Amino acid sequence: MITAEDFIPSPYQNTIENGQFHWSAPSNIALVKYWGKKEHQIPANPSVSFTLNHCKTITSLVFAKKDSDEISFDLLFEGKPKEDFKPKIQKFFERTLKYLPFLTDYHFTIDTQNTFPHSSGIASSASGMAALAMNLMSLEKTLNPEMTDAYFFQKSSFLARLGSGSACRSVKGKVIVWGNHEDISGSSDLFGVEFPTQIHNIFHNYQDTILLVDKGEKQVSSTVGHDLMHDHPFAERRFAQAHENLSKIKKVLENGNLDDFIKIVESEALTLHAMMMTSLPYFILMKPNTLEIINKIWKFRNDTKIPVCFTLDAGANVHVLYPEKVAVEVLKFIQAELTAFCDNGQYICDLLGAGSKLIMNN
Ligand code: PMV
Repeated sequence: MITAEDFIPSPYQNTIENGQFHWSAPSNIALVKYWGKKEHQIPANPSVSFTLNHCKTITSLVFAKKDSDEISFDLLFEGKPKEDFKPKIQKFFERTLKYLPFLTDYHFTIDTQNTFPHSSGIASSASGMAALAMNLMSLEKTLNPEMTDAYFFQKSSFLARLGSGSACRSVKGKVIVWGNHEDISGSSDLFGVEFPTQIHNIFHNYQDTILLVDKGEKQVSSTVGHDLMHDHPFAERRFAQAHENLSKIKKVLENGNLDDFIKIVESEALTLHAMMMTSLPYFILMKPNTLEIINKIWKFRNDTKIPVCFTLDAGANVHVLYPEKVAVEVLKFIQAELTAFCDNGQYICDLLGAGSKLIMNN
C-alpha cells in the first residue's frame, strides 16, 4: 500500500535557476459526496466524481532561485495582486514542503484565472489547487526527470488533496474515485484514482448544466462544514451509506442503468444537505429557487420519462445531469422553465472532461 512517506523525494539530480509552467485543471462534481474528514485531509468516506470539461482554473507558475529559506510567493488573480487568496496558498505550501523540499529554494509568482464567472458560487478551490499542484509537479519533474508519468499524476493528486480535499479528483478524468473502497482496486485515501473499469456508453459526454441560483459567498466554508461531521448524530451511518452507495454506483456506471443512477445521485445530494441541516450549528444552504428547480426537474422527468436528474454542492446552485442524446430536449426545458429561477438567468453548460492539461512547459 502506498503511504504518504512514498511522496517524500530523494535528493534531486538536476538544478534549475528559473523558468515557468502553465497548466489548466477542471472543476469536478461529486456523485457520491465527500463530507467529513480526519486529520491531514483524509476523507471520512470515499467519494466518486465526474471531472468537468469547461469550468476550469488556468494557472501559471513563474519561479526564480533565491537565497533565504522562507516560503516566498506573489499571488495574482487575472494578472492583479490578490492578497486574500494568499493565506490558503501559504498553508498549502507549508503542508506540502515535506513532499516538495524545493519550495523554499524559489520565489514563485502564481497567476491564476477561472473560465467560469467570478463569484458564481462555483467553488474554484478544487480546480485552483489542482492547477497549482500540476505546476509544482512539472517543476519537480524538471529536477528529477526520471519520474514516471504514473508517479507524476499520483503525486499531483496527493498534493492537490492537501490544498483542498476534492481537488485530488480534478487532476484526471473522467470519473475519479477518492478514498479507500473495497470494490475499487487501487483506491486510496491519499489521492484520486481513475474509475477502474469500462464506463457504459450512456455516460459518454454526460452533460452537466450548472444553474447559478445564488452567486453569493458560501454561507459555510467547507472546512467548517467538514468539521460539523465530528460529533454529528448521523455521522457513522452516513459514512457507511457512502460506502454502500459507491458499491451501487460502480455497478450503475458499468451497466448504464439510469433509473438507479438517478436514485443514488439525488439521494446523495439531499443527504449532503440533510447532514448540514442536522448538525449543530445547523444550516440550510438551499434557497427557495433551489427547491423550485428540483420540483420542476421531478415533474419534467415524470411527464417525459427523460432521464435527467440533479445534484448539489455545498451551496444553492443546481447541477443538472443528463445523457448527451437528450441534450436538445433538456436544454429547451432548462431555458423554458428553469432559468427563471437562476440569478440573472445565468447557467453554464458543461460535460465530462479528461482532467488537467499542460499549456506551457518551461
Ligand atoms: O474539497 P472541499 O473541502 O472543498 O469539500 C468539498 C465537499 C463537497 O463539494 C460538498 C462534496 C464533494 O465531494 O465534492
